[in-house]
Amino acid sequence: MNDNILEINNLGVIYKTDLETVYAVNNISFALERGKTMGIVGETGAGKTTTALSILRLLPERTGHITNGSIVFDGMDLIEATEVEMQKIRGEKIAMIFQDPMTSLNPVHTIGEQIAESLILHNKDKSKDEIDARVDEVLTMVGITPSRKKEYPHQFSGGMKQRVVIAMALVCEPDLLIADEPTTALDVTIQAQVILMIRELRDRLGTSMIMITHDLGIVAQTCDNVGVMYAGEIIEYGTASDIFTGEKHHPYTKGLFNSIPKLDVQEDRLNPIPGLMPDPTNLPKGCKFSPRCPQCMDICKVEQPGEYREGTHIIACHLFTKILETV
Ligand SMILES: Nc1ncnc2c1ncn2[C@@H]1O[C@H](COP(=O)(O)OP(=O)(O)OP(=O)(O)O)[C@@H](O)[C@H]1O
Ligand code: SF4
Ligand SMILES: [Mg+2]
Repeated sequence: MNDNILEINNLGVIYKTDLETVYAVNNISFALERGKTMGIVGETGAGKTTTALSILRLLPERTGHITNGSIVFDGMDLIEATEVEMQKIRGEKIAMIFQDPMTSLNPVHTIGEQIAESLILHNKDKSKDEIDARVDEVLTMVGITPSRKKEYPHQFSGGMKQRVVIAMALVCEPDLLIADEPTTALDVTIQAQVILMIRELRDRLGTSMIMITHDLGIVAQTCDNVGVMYAGEIIEYGTASDIFTGEKHHPYTKGLFNSIPKLDVQEDRLNPIPGLMPDPTNLPKGCKFSPRCPQCMDICKVEQPGEYREGTHIIACHLFTKILETV
């Protein structure tokens, strides 16, 4: 049975100014099953945040454009939705946790007022007492004493601020939670606590989730499925076990794994993937990873690779599709 809460099909997104066009997301497709968590990993500039902002229709108004594709959430194409419909969906049905808590927090309002705001917007019939009780409940859920709700964001540490943001995201019990690098701005010990808390709350509430990160460790701890993004494309997709224990991998995914330190091997330095992501205003023909790929073949520079599929595992690379053609 198909029980996908989100289906993205052939989505393309550009940022266009008078001077240039940035090809940020290039025809990606994926589906998220209800109650599951999908991880999106990839280097800076891969198009992860652009994908998230497209789902919420929060791309910058003048420059960000969805050029093609569909984003179907619970049976409704969000690309076709009106702004009024989107306002009902944001916060209540789909909530987002941004990387920097201060993007979401307003310094001049108390945290209690800010948590209550989305609740009031989406529950006009709730009394003040009911709203207050729910704010207390959600603060307790994220480990903050409810009596602190009268305090302002600057009175909280970075980790506590991110807990407030998580409380804001969860207060309306959204069906889909998008967490965009939710712990990057925090120090390492706090990161682990916040990830654990997101995981526990997700499990308790049964929320479907998209976890955006460049940290493969976080993906391993939280995700059922994983999409690896490079230059606006999903170049490898599969279950967590396809990605973490599968034998076949896209050369870029291999590079990502090689660039993380191994605890059991003494290494003098990390092995980052040499080279840089291509200029998104002038993407290479053929495979976008070809300028950096150690296994690049002639065909890679001219022909966009198709998808090689093995069960749930998809790899967009000529190394695999060409093998298939010759057998
Ligand atoms: N408002 C914007 N105007 C123009 N280009 C943009 C804008 N926002 C992002 N981009 C460009 O679009 C591409 C994708 O950016 P995006 O922020 O989606 O990447 P990301 O994978 O989230 O990266 P990071 O890991 O750094 O957050 C990049 O080349 C980026 O420079
Ligand atoms: S298609 Fe070619 S260049 Fe691209 S990742 Fe595969 S082998 Fe490397
Ligand atoms: Mg981002």
